[in-house]
Amino acid sequence: MCGIVGYIGNKDAKVILLQGLEKLEYRGYDSSGIFIVDGNQNGHLFKEKGRIADLKKIIEPYLFSTSGIGHTRWATHGRPSVENAHPHQSTNQRFTLVHNGVIENFQELKDTYLPEISLTSDTDTEIIVQLISHFSEEEQLTTFEAFKKTVSKLKGSYALALMDTQQPDIIYAAKNKSPLLVGKGIGFNAICSDAMAMIQETNQFIELMDGEFISLTRDEIKIETQDGTSISRETYTAEVNLDDLDLGAYPYYMAKEIDEQPAVLRKIIQAYQNDQGQFQLDTDIINSVISSDRIYIIACGTSYNAGWVGKQLLETLAHIPTEVHLSSEFGYNMPILSKKPFFIFLSQSGETADSRQVLVKIKAMEFPSLTLTNVSGSTLSREADYTLLLHAGPEIAVASTKAYTAQITVLAALSEVIAKKNGLAKESNMAHELGIVATGMESILSEKVFIEQLATHYLSTSRNAFYIGRGVDYYVAMEASLKLKEISYVQTEGFAAGELKHGTIALIEEGTPVIAIITDKDSAGHTRGNVQEVQARGAHALVITMEGLQKKGDQLVLPKVHSLLTPLVSVVPTQLLAYYTSLHRGNDVDKPRNLAKSVTVE
Ligand code: F6R
Repeated sequence: MCGIVGYIGNKDAKVILLQGLEKLEYRGYDSSGIFIVDGNQNGHLFKEKGRIADLKKIIEPYLFSTSGIGHTRWATHGRPSVENAHPHQSTNQRFTLVHNGVIENFQELKDTYLPEISLTSDTDTEIIVQLISHFSEEEQLTTFEAFKKTVSKLKGSYALALMDTQQPDIIYAAKNKSPLLVGKGIGFNAICSDAMAMIQETNQFIELMDGEFISLTRDEIKIETQDGTSISRETYTAEVNLDDLDLGAYPYYMAKEIDEQPAVLRKIIQAYQNDQGQFQLDTDIINSVISSDRIYIIACGTSYNAGWVGKQLLETLAHIPTEVHLSSEFGYNMPILSKKPFFIFLSQSGETADSRQVLVKIKAMEFPSLTLTNVSGSTLSREADYTLLLHAGPEIAVASTKAYTAQITVLAALSEVIAKKNGLAKESNMAHELGIVATGMESILSEKVFIEQLATHYLSTSRNAFYIGRGVDYYVAMEASLKLKEISYVQTEGFAAGELKHGTIALIEEGTPVIAIITDKDSAGHTRGNVQEVQARGAHALVITMEGLQKKGDQLVLPKVHSLLTPLVSVVPTQLLAYYTSLHRGNDVDKPRNLAKSVTVE
């Protein structure tokens, strides 16, 4: 949530900052701003509500700048507005600051240190910059000292970048919980929330750890602790392929990412397959899992929905009891744990704050952990004992699609490897079965025109909708409903088909769309019964089923795949239904209202 950038060097800073902010827009897009220093060392502040494109319109095009900081916002304190947009400045305009995170004690800090100051915004961030100014003036501290002193008072999460008009050739930065990287170049240095923001300038980055402070000039990067102990750290090469960020002929990243799924599956098979065509994973991971007595999957949103499919795979193939928990609930309402738990964190971004707080807690309890993530070097990857990468390539659309199918695919590989190690599932060959799934996905993707017609017919004008299913089909219904609601704003529930009649059926009216997912032969009859029940009450029913289970009148018949892998194919039409519904309603498919891609606040 929120993206920050900073640049100091030879090129026009404003161009680099704006380019970086466009790459970070997925982190928040309700307002943005930059502060830049021109060739005469004068500072200029530009802020605007809306997208980076709106910010660009108010920036003087001929103003050459050598350094600056920028921010794209997802509002936490104070509504989206020019006043609340970052950067924020001290009253005397000497200090300028951008912030990603949440300061929990901002009101106490205001009451204790700044009772006389009148603030110009409703944000928690303005307090930080006013406090730096306060310590600098009242205690005659250098800027770095005032910055450090201020940071030592903060409770919460933050990645901060600070500029002082009296030292326009230095950017100061610090972090706690929120991500921050230094980008190292020739003739420039930079900071950013995500390597993607600076990949056009450099692929050399330095990871920063919580509690570290940075001062950055054009030619020098100094990292130190609060007490001034210097830290030296090597750069790493960020492996972001610029072509992956290219939209090509697609109107939206979501359309591109849905289409990429068969290729992602094949990439995962290749990454984790041995010469015999069988999955093979790091033996330390497998030994750690099999010495546990229960797996706890911790995740949020779409990753949480993938976790339920993972539970089915782990329990059915590997016979290990598995629980799935929402990160935001688990950390503060921890159930009684088994004697030897093993934790799996599912996170596309690897930065989700809700999941990280659980990881911190279970690490303190000395329990082993594995992160499945799409982003190598992300916080959850660095901090867990083990990582398995999703190999899905950058997921830019806010609505997650290919990360969901990638997570299930890696969980299928993991389940099979554990099972085989325990002498189970001897005949199973998931790598082969997943190859069949990839082909099946392609055949569904070739039905886009028809699926678009279904979206128009069933969903383009409805106010609400239901997805129903049983077992894994229910798990997919949960994901399908999240996808539809988050980008089309149609109020949608994913419901256990059998549970509908216990209350929720009261919401079915003439024309209410009810989409049934039926891929499980054992429960198909009952789910069809539930479809009859809602149709009898006026529902507009759409059935997505699988070869071998189809009945006359079913709208979509999916190619047959392994019974544990049906979610990988049944989810695809639901992603397309969400996409086309959003498109037809005129929404910004990739950047739905009120959302951001990487949720780094709790
Ligand atoms: C929905 C979506 C979110 C994320 C959730 C967790 O399409 O993208 O629900 O799945 O915020 O994010 P990660 O997986 O990055 O931890």
